[in-house]
Amino acid sequence: MTDQNARPRSFSASVPLKGRIAIPGDKSISHRSLMLSALAVGESRVTGLLEGHDVLATAAAMRAMGATIERRADGEWRIHGVGVGGLIQPQGALDMGNSGTSTRLLMGLVASHPITATFIGDASLSGRPMGRVIDPLAQMGADITSSPGGRLPLMVRGLAPAIPLAYRLPVASAQVKSAVLLAGLNTPGITQVIEPVPTRDHSERMLRGFGADLTVETDTDGTRHIRIVGEAELKPQTIVVPGDPSSAAFFIVAALLVPGSDVTITNVGLNPTRAGLIDVLRQMGGNIELIDPREVGGEPVADLRVRHSMLTGVDVDPAVAPSMIDEFPILFVAAALAKGRTTTTGLEELRVKESDRIAVMATGLKAIGARVTETEDGLIIDGTGGDPLPGGATIAGHLDHRICMSFAVAGLVSGAQVSIDDIAPVATSFPSFEALLAGLQQ
Ligand code: S3P
Repeated sequence: MTDQNARPRSFSASVPLKGRIAIPGDKSISHRSLMLSALAVGESRVTGLLEGHDVLATAAAMRAMGATIERRADGEWRIHGVGVGGLIQPQGALDMGNSGTSTRLLMGLVASHPITATFIGDASLSGRPMGRVIDPLAQMGADITSSPGGRLPLMVRGLAPAIPLAYRLPVASAQVKSAVLLAGLNTPGITQVIEPVPTRDHSERMLRGFGADLTVETDTDGTRHIRIVGEAELKPQTIVVPGDPSSAAFFIVAALLVPGSDVTITNVGLNPTRAGLIDVLRQMGGNIELIDPREVGGEPVADLRVRHSMLTGVDVDPAVAPSMIDEFPILFVAAALAKGRTTTTGLEELRVKESDRIAVMATGLKAIGARVTETEDGLIIDGTGGDPLPGGATIAGHLDHRICMSFAVAGLVSGAQVSIDDIAPVATSFPSFEALLAGLQQ
C-alpha cells in the first residue's frame, strides 16, 4: 500500500556545513512540562517547548482530560491545570500518533484516576509493546484491555484510590519508570520504582521541581530507589525547555563527517543521563568543544562547537547504552565513515523503538554500501576511513523519524544520492530539521 501523504526526499554529497544553529526543545522535557503543568492548580508557563507532532499529541490528550493549554503568538505556552486527581473523562479516543512517550506516560496518569481512556496510534506505535507498562499499572489496580500482544489500541480503566506499588524495572526504560511514578502521583502512600540501570531522570527532576515529595536513594551498586508520596499537590511552574541533545546528535555527526565543516549548536541539553553520544564520539576522535556550560530549567546545557574530524572505530561499552539510546542510528552512520571497526552490543531495546532500529539500520546501511554485520543485540561496522559511502539507494524509513534523519546525514557523505521513501515522520520530533540543514549549506 502506498501512503498518499508520503514525502520522498533525497540527500546528496554536501558542501562544508558552516554556521550556528539553535535546535528545538527537548522532547522528553516537553512532554513532561505539559503533563505536570496540566496537573498543577494554576497557570504554568513554558518556553522553548518542542512543537513536534509527538508533543502536540500530549497537549491534545491533556486538553481532552480537562486542562486548558494555549500557545501565545510569542511562542510561550500557558497551561491551566486541573490538579492531581482532577483529570476528567476524555470524550473520544486519545490519538497518540507515533508517540510511545505520550502513550506510556499518559497510561500511568489515567491508571490512578477514576476515568477510562482509549489509546490509539499509527502503524508504528500500534506495533510496539505496551505490556511493560500494563504489568505494573495493573498491579496498581488499573483494568487494561489491550489488542493481542499487549498492543494498541488499548483501553485503561483507572482505579482511584489506586494501590501503591514497589516495582523493580525489568527493562531499562525511562518511560516505564515515569508511568509508575506518574500513577503514584494520585495514589495514597508511597509508590516506589527500583531502577537497577539508570535511565533519563527528567521525571524525577521535574516532579520535584513541581513540588512533589520525591526522593532518590542510590545503593553502592548503583541501583536507584525512587519514592514518590501521593496524593501529591503540584504547584504551577515557569519552565524553560533546553535544546534536545537527541536532535543535536544529527548535526553533531553531520559536522564531524562532512569535510571542512565547522558548526556551533547552541543551548544543547547535557543531562548526564542523555549525553553518552558526545563521550563516544570524542573517544572516536571527534572534535566537539563545550562552550559556556550553564543551567537552563534545572538541566545542564552548553553550546557545542563541532569540527570535521577523522573518526576511529571503537567498542561501545553497553553500559552507556541508556544514556544514548536514541542516538544509535546516527552513531552507526558515524561508524560507517570511521577508520576501522565499531562494535555495539547490549542494544536489544533498539528493536522495539519506532522501528526495529538494528534491522532497519543494517538493511539501509548495506544498501548504500557500508560494511555491516547484524547481531542479535547490535551492529558490527567496518568503516570507510573517511571515504564517502557509495550511496545510490532508496531507504525505507518505517515511520521512524530517527531512521529518516540518520540516512539524510548519510546522504551528505555519499557518492550517489540517498533517497528516503518518506521524510514526513521527521516532524514528530524535529520539524525544522531540513531548514536548519539548508541554512548550514549556504
Ligand atoms: C523517553 C525514553 C526512552 C526514549 C524515548 C523517550 C522518555 O524510551 O527512547 O525517545 O521521554 O522517557 P524507553 O523508556 O522506552 O527507553
